[in-house]
Amino acid sequence: MHASRNQSGAAVPVITVDGPSGSGKGTISQCLAEKLGWHHLDSGALYRLLAYAALQQAVPLDDVDALVQLATRLSETYQLPTREHPAIMLGGEDVGLALRTESCAEAASKTAALPEVRQALLAWQRHYRRVPGLIADGRDMGTTVFPDATLKIYLTARPEVRAERRYNQLKNKGIVVDLGDLVREVEARDLRDSSRKASPLMPAEDAVILDNSDQDESRTLEQVLQAVHDVL
Ligand code: C5P
Repeated sequence: MHASRNQSGAAVPVITVDGPSGSGKGTISQCLAEKLGWHHLDSGALYRLLAYAALQQAVPLDDVDALVQLATRLSETYQLPTREHPAIMLGGEDVGLALRTESCAEAASKTAALPEVRQALLAWQRHYRRVPGLIADGRDMGTTVFPDATLKIYLTARPEVRAERRYNQLKNKGIVVDLGDLVREVEARDLRDSSRKASPLMPAEDAVILDNSDQDESRTLEQVLQAVHDVL
């Protein structure tokens, strides 16, 4: 079904970009995928999609068996959007905006703490490893999903900087939230993501760690491209 090795048998290269919410990993990963002409896996979207589908179908967020069944069903039927077809469709509905809300992120973070759910999403994520290469962004791309990645980047920034970035991202999408509430939600989500037992948010041992609190996206992209050119 997928090409985790190319025709000569060599593993298809993967660059992982992990980090907490608002670290800029999504934007940097997209730019990188475009520059290299590689595929892009936004693994957070899969966790958000599962949580959204669970909420829609009234599946309790702690019903492990039902969540695993739902994840398996989604993984068999669902394709992440591509550059040509960027809309995130679920059951004929464009759910792109609904997935970006903080309530969906919070539900995703709760279900993502369940080891069985993470296990059920593993093969789905690896399925996106295709020639000529993959940029995978998330929390555990470098530690668990693609431990053999060619390059592992870990982006981070101070919590208040990340909350403000999230605030602006949501505002640009027309989603209005209170900044104070957002700071608290981002901190609670960080804590849940980094303290869970199954694949917690943390840099891989061999990751390049970049704190971009005091710099803009273009500088971060420059640093990431430098790291890419050092290994490719
Ligand atoms: O990256 P994003 O904010 O879209 O992720 C939403 C939630 O999904 C995160 O807070 C995290 O709990 C979960 N997630 C995860 N592992 C990933 C990607 C996302 O646990 N690789």
